[in-house]
Amino acid sequence: MKRLRIAIDGPGGAGKSTIARRVAEALGIAYLDTGAMYRAAGLAAARHGLKAEEVSKIEALLETLDLAVVFDENGQDICLDGERLGDQIRTPEASRWASDISRLPACRHMMVALQRRLAAGQDLVLDGRDIGSYVLPDAEIKIYLDASLEERARRRLKQERERDPAATVESVARDLAWRDRQDSERELAPLVCTPAHHRIDSTGNSVDETTATVLAWIYSQFPELIADRTKAVDQDGG
Ligand code: DC
Repeated sequence: MKRLRIAIDGPGGAGKSTIARRVAEALGIAYLDTGAMYRAAGLAAARHGLKAEEVSKIEALLETLDLAVVFDENGQDICLDGERLGDQIRTPEASRWASDISRLPACRHMMVALQRRLAAGQDLVLDGRDIGSYVLPDAEIKIYLDASLEERARRRLKQERERDPAATVESVARDLAWRDRQDSERELAPLVCTPAHHRIDSTGNSVDETTATVLAWIYSQFPELIADRTKAVDQDGG
């Protein structure tokens, strides 16, 4: 049976992780949230009281980190030096740190090696910034999931408000725009929509609608992969 690696790239707040999880469920394959790995590295640096400019100290810290991706019935979690991180990596500070630390080649090399190892052993949906352009340039399917900045900020605001009641659409949009710029302008493996990516704009669409659009694209491009999978499920008696 052919490999099936699905890259879902795009800017923050475009709904990549929600859609990627749904797509993986629909296809019966695993899902890897690569942003969570950079968030965990950023959290480690913050816990050590480092600043983003302290590159050599961050690099030394990265070498000592024991970072693992754990898959369980609740999905994915990151285990850092034996501690399950859960939602600690979802704060605005962790978002900024993730973007800062992801610019460092040493950090990218470490995460990309782990991502490629995970993708080598199984069919996988991965969401991130550089999956189709750098991590898995030969991924069977590459999607660039986008949405307007205003809509992305509105979606993120709901989560932000749970932590910070003073958050506004404007403050969330400012954070997202800053991250978009930094993630797109970094030298190594920036956020990019390559000609091989199929761009889907989810502005104004519900999660169900966007999931259906993404799945329809996959089925239209690779019907034989889907037929193979249906056969495999039938043979397993599933
Ligand atoms: O997808 P996210 O918001 O959890 O990602 C957090 C940061 O991690 C993002 O601003 C840039 C970085 N990142 C990256 O550089 N490459 C990836 N494949 C995923 C995330």
